[in-house]
Amino acid sequence: MKITILPGDGIGPEVTEAAVRVLKTVTEFYSIPLSLDWQRIGGAAISEDGSPFPDATREACVNSDAVFLGAVGDPSFDHLLPSERPEGGLLAMRRALGGFANLRPAKALPALISASPLRRDVFEGTDLLIVRELLGGIYFGQPRGVDESGARAYNTMVYSVSEIERVARVAFEAAQGRRKKLASVDKANVLETSQLWRKSVANIAKDYPDVEVENLYVDACAMHLVTDPKRFDVILTENMFGDILSDEAAVLTGSLGTLPSATIGGNVDLYEPIHGSAPQIAGKNIANPIGAIASIAMMFRYTANRPEIAEAIERAIDEVVDEGYRTIDILGDKTNTEVSTSRMGELIAGRIVDTAELNHYFHAV
Ligand code: NAD
Ligand code: IPM
Ligand code: MN
Repeated sequence: MKITILPGDGIGPEVTEAAVRVLKTVTEFYSIPLSLDWQRIGGAAISEDGSPFPDATREACVNSDAVFLGAVGDPSFDHLLPSERPEGGLLAMRRALGGFANLRPAKALPALISASPLRRDVFEGTDLLIVRELLGGIYFGQPRGVDESGARAYNTMVYSVSEIERVARVAFEAAQGRRKKLASVDKANVLETSQLWRKSVANIAKDYPDVEVENLYVDACAMHLVTDPKRFDVILTENMFGDILSDEAAVLTGSLGTLPSATIGGNVDLYEPIHGSAPQIAGKNIANPIGAIASIAMMFRYTANRPEIAEAIERAIDEVVDEGYRTIDILGDKTNTEVSTSRMGELIAGRIVDTAELNHYFHAV
């Protein structure tokens, strides 16, 4: 596997280091050749190269099997225009890779029950997948800008039938492999793009008669997510709604630091935790690396086509957390043991190898 690693800003490099530790351990153990190409993106790239997505980074990204990103964002660039900011670099990178379906799974780990702000009976058993359209909508629509006077600014939400249909197919296929329920989320009572969304999803639904479809407005969906998250299986939605709903879903199941993502459908797959650069806690070795490590698991599932390795990583995460090793954001109960970002990476990597060796031994005897 040829992977471009983009640590980025803030806690990005810290969670990346933990994730790369797991990636290296696992590829070594299973004898999978691995080549890593480390590149700059975001604020780190603005400072060094004068651009949030330098040519060398683009070149490396488009020539790899997959890209891993930590996080971008640095408050010292807040005065810049969106395209010049660290986040603009991330969006340019997503476009260059071409992946349009961003998969954000949120599953309540039994071990994290004490870390959720919700009542146990409300969220226990939550297991949902948000399929977020990643290359369209208001993030990329033209025209956008600020009037010369500075007194007016505008963005445009645009969707075409083909952009909606291709991401809908990914969501329906995912639903077929799960509980066969799909909630399509829009704002069709107000927006033309959402009316087109609903119509296009209904059109694709005809090809997946075994999947039960419901249409929900985004405001109601935000409410149902906290009152009855178990009702959801796959949630399909446009770019900005998916961004917001996935942060909400993350908190249900523990902490924003625990949610991974995979972006598929383009030339090069992209893996990133859903959280940002968390500047307030950067440099302290306290950030939760589980979202980043679980993104590596997704890399084995989707890019390497090795689901058994993905499961081994996910099982190791569950076990380590279950034994009470926690970063501070999910510490919960005082009887748990607080560990640093790097220690969490070591514990999870070590657990994968121990378990695999044990299995090997039992198969042998
Ligand atoms: P954020 O996700 O960085 O942080 C939100 C809150 O969650 C903060 O309280 C933070 O401390 C906490 N948090 C986030 N990740 C955590 C982790 N791994 N472990 C423990 N706690 C964690 O969002 P924000 O504060 O709104 O934005 C900060 C910067 O990150 C901004 O520049 C924003 O644009 C950027 N951002 C980048 C990405 C990305 O790179 N994919 C995603 C979201 C935000
Ligand atoms: C995310 C982030 C990004 C997004 C920003 C930083 C561009 O919030 O990955 O969820 O909105 O897609
Ligand atoms: Mn986000």
